Amino acid sequence: MRYIFLDEVDSTNNEIKRLAEKGYEDMTVVSADSQTAGRGRLGHSWTSPKGTSIATSILIRPEKLDIKMTQLPRITILTAVAVLDAIEHATGLTAGIKWPNDVLLHDKKVCGILTELCFMPKDAFAHQSDYSILHKAGNKYIVIGIGINVTVRDFPDEIKDMATSMSIAMEQAGKSKEEIEKLSRRSIIENVWTNFSYYYHEFLKTGNLNFIKKKYESRLVNIGRMVKVEDPNGEYEAKALGIDYAGKLLIEVGEDEYRAIDSGEVHVRGLYGYV
Ligand code: BTN
Repeated sequence: MRYIFLDEVDSTNNEIKRLAEKGYEDMTVVSADSQTAGRGRLGHSWTSPKGTSIATSILIRPEKLDIKMTQLPRITILTAVAVLDAIEHATGLTAGIKWPNDVLLHDKKVCGILTELCFMPKDAFAHQSDYSILHKAGNKYIVIGIGINVTVRDFPDEIKDMATSMSIAMEQAGKSKEEIEKLSRRSIIENVWTNFSYYYHEFLKTGNLNFIKKKYESRLVNIGRMVKVEDPNGEYEAKALGIDYAGKLLIEVGEDEYRAIDSGEVHVRGLYGYV
């Protein structure tokens, strides 16, 4: 793993894309102290305030799997577990997951993950004399970006009811000032990617999530709860039961009617709010 730390960047996901197109290797990690144009899911923006948050992204070039768009949610789900482990380790608290990949403390979002599948533009290496690098790099790569609120105190009005930070949650749980001061963004980053590397290599063996399903479900806050499924064909309510080997959410829609829903197609909310 190669770590690059920057003071400021537009978005660490964008920086990884620039490096990928220059031929940087699998498992390159870029982290920044702050982002000026951080991006979230569904076209939202993401704020990474200086000195108090983590913005970190990794470049992965999967060789063994012919990764399809439909497999991206699996990688995002295992990333959520890698982050969850690192957050639990640093805070001493039990974290939760809102399907598919928001990591929570006290039912509020502390981390967001943005995974993107990218294709090399044809002329990416036009300036290189050694064209064999093209073959070595492959033409597809994945960028996984993680934003974590570490010691953030203030959130924009639109998200302040559903967002928290590691330090706020630790305070609420009665952790001491000394424990909170020990939070180190650099060690959290390294811990996240070490965990990720382990889970990702396990995933590459089979291409499915069976090895991590039990752990994921043990932290899934939606389990057993009613959710509102925002399907482009119409919204409906259902009970969340767990996930399948591909990370789809298993839901009970009516008596004896079950479905597996895909995070690329639908979104879920709690009936009365975020979870
Ligand atoms: C979400 O909407 O929940 C996903 C947020 C992802 C934010 C991270 S911060 C590091 C990386 N760079 C970005 O521009 N976005 C991701």
